[in-house]
Amino acid sequence: MCGIVGYIGTKKAYPILISGLSRLEYRGYDSAGISTIENDGLSLMKDKGRVKNLSNLDGIDNLEGTIGIAHTRWATHGKPSKENSHPHQDNSKTFSVVHNGIIENYNELRKFLENNGYTFYSQTDTEVIPNLIHYHFSKDDKNDNLKFLRAVKNACLELKGSFAIEVISILYPDNMIVVRQDSPLVIGTCEDEKYLSSDIPAILSYTRDFYLLNDLEFVVLTRNSAKFYDENLNEIKKETQTIEWNASAAEKDGFDDFMLKEIYEQPTAIRETIGAKINLDSKCEFDELGFTKEYLSSINKIYIVACGTAMHAGLSGKNAIEKLCKIPCEVDIASEFRYRDPIIDEKTLCIFISQSGETADTIAALKLSKEKGAKTLAISNVIGSSITREADYSIYTHAGPEIAVASTKAYTSQVVLINILAIYFAEILENSDMESLTKLKQDILDLPKKIEESLDCSDEIKKFAKQIYQEKDVFFLGRGIDETVAREGSLKLKEISYIHSESYAAGELKHGPIALIENGITVISILTNKDLVKKSVSNIQEVITRGAKTLVVTNQEIDRNMFDTVITIPETNCFISPILSIIPLQLLSYYISKEKGLDVDKPRNLAKSVTVE
Ligand code: M6R
Repeated sequence: MCGIVGYIGTKKAYPILISGLSRLEYRGYDSAGISTIENDGLSLMKDKGRVKNLSNLDGIDNLEGTIGIAHTRWATHGKPSKENSHPHQDNSKTFSVVHNGIIENYNELRKFLENNGYTFYSQTDTEVIPNLIHYHFSKDDKNDNLKFLRAVKNACLELKGSFAIEVISILYPDNMIVVRQDSPLVIGTCEDEKYLSSDIPAILSYTRDFYLLNDLEFVVLTRNSAKFYDENLNEIKKETQTIEWNASAAEKDGFDDFMLKEIYEQPTAIRETIGAKINLDSKCEFDELGFTKEYLSSINKIYIVACGTAMHAGLSGKNAIEKLCKIPCEVDIASEFRYRDPIIDEKTLCIFISQSGETADTIAALKLSKEKGAKTLAISNVIGSSITREADYSIYTHAGPEIAVASTKAYTSQVVLINILAIYFAEILENSDMESLTKLKQDILDLPKKIEESLDCSDEIKKFAKQIYQEKDVFFLGRGIDETVAREGSLKLKEISYIHSESYAAGELKHGPIALIENGITVISILTNKDLVKKSVSNIQEVITRGAKTLVVTNQEIDRNMFDTVITIPETNCFISPILSIIPLQLLSYYISKEKGLDVDKPRNLAKSVTVE
């Protein structure tokens, strides 16, 4: 939610800021703005609408400043408007601030500041921050070189909620101060320049060396230094980390949209995620975990907790964990889990899945599980992301940066990684048949090639998309693991094509939803489980009888003449079949969205990383 960028260096800041914002637009795109330090004061250029509009603002070309901050917004407090856009300034225009996150106690702080003579011009929670900084600054009698930092620190310690903040001041033309709590912010560093961003890919073309911040670490940046302080303003040492991602991974590379590029990157993403973890002649390896038989035997329950697509990946992983490890596994939505007082203790292992590693509900659920004594394991795609720093253990998908709001390669990488994790547990526990584990390992190793084959359905899917893009409702059906894919297919369709869709366990149809089936309605079914195929076919038969148009995604022998369109995918082990069966559904959503002329990568109302509750 919201993207922030910063630059301090030797070049003009504004083009770098705008370019960074355009890469972060997937995080929010209802308004944008920048502020730079100019000779005659702080510039402030902002408006509602897309980042590209910034380049047309009067006077933007005249900005000479080499220090600046920038923001692209996903509205939470106050509608998209110029007044509510960031950056925000204090009343005296001494400080400019951009903020990503939510200040939960802003009403209280606003009243306090109003009582102290401050006026507010926006409906945002953020506007309290520069004014609070000003308040503390003006109350501080000491005039030492930490005065600016002290004011920011004192203000931040009064904020409740989540924030990643960048602050510049006309009184300190060579400094920028930044801090984060539960919202992402990274600092890229090279000689004489510092680049700041909500995520790594946006600034990967400038540097591979990053500082990753922990909560409430305050940073004072100059062109050639970065000093880190804890909340008592004791200086702390921090090393840079080198990020291995390739800068071109954050470009479209000739594809029309990031989503399509990311769909086609799945063979590589899966190959990278498997890495060296699977070896047919020896046990699976996770150097980061080092779990023992004694520990795994003591676990009486595994929870997988996540949101959206990551939760769907968790649902498909449940199967492998329960069947291969014989440990009961529950999958929960993070926003529900955190408020339902789940039964957890030191014998529970809680696994949290998050592509970004910054999802507010998932982080909160993780913190709760730790408080209750469970061991926590994070699965993320972003090295150093918040969940990985909170969890006891972390493992990574290696899907590379995922830019499109609709998650594709992160999902399939998560599914493969949970399956490898399940094999790793099962091999340590020694309670599964080794031959089937080896067979599953081989099937996992064969996945990249089979994904390539699955992508061959693209033309057929495009044709089907043309037939149904104007529909108002679509249904997805599946049984067993296919039901989890039905959910994911339905979510993909909703989020980027804005078509209403529902997914159902096929056996539930007769218990209500079949009342919605009428002539011409589209029903999409997934059939990959040979034990359930007959049952599912008879459910599809029921909707055909009521006039439904059908698309079937399958790797089973079925009577193709029964259905309008059949997409055949390669056969594989049932546990990992979602990795192949989701591909036609990802493509279908993509082509419907294109057919409707929508913005595939930045669907309305959505943000890539949901860092607020
Ligand atoms: O970064 P996360 O994996 O924690 O994100 C979770 C969901 O917000 C995310 O999967 C969302 O559902 C996607 N837009 C789905 O395509």
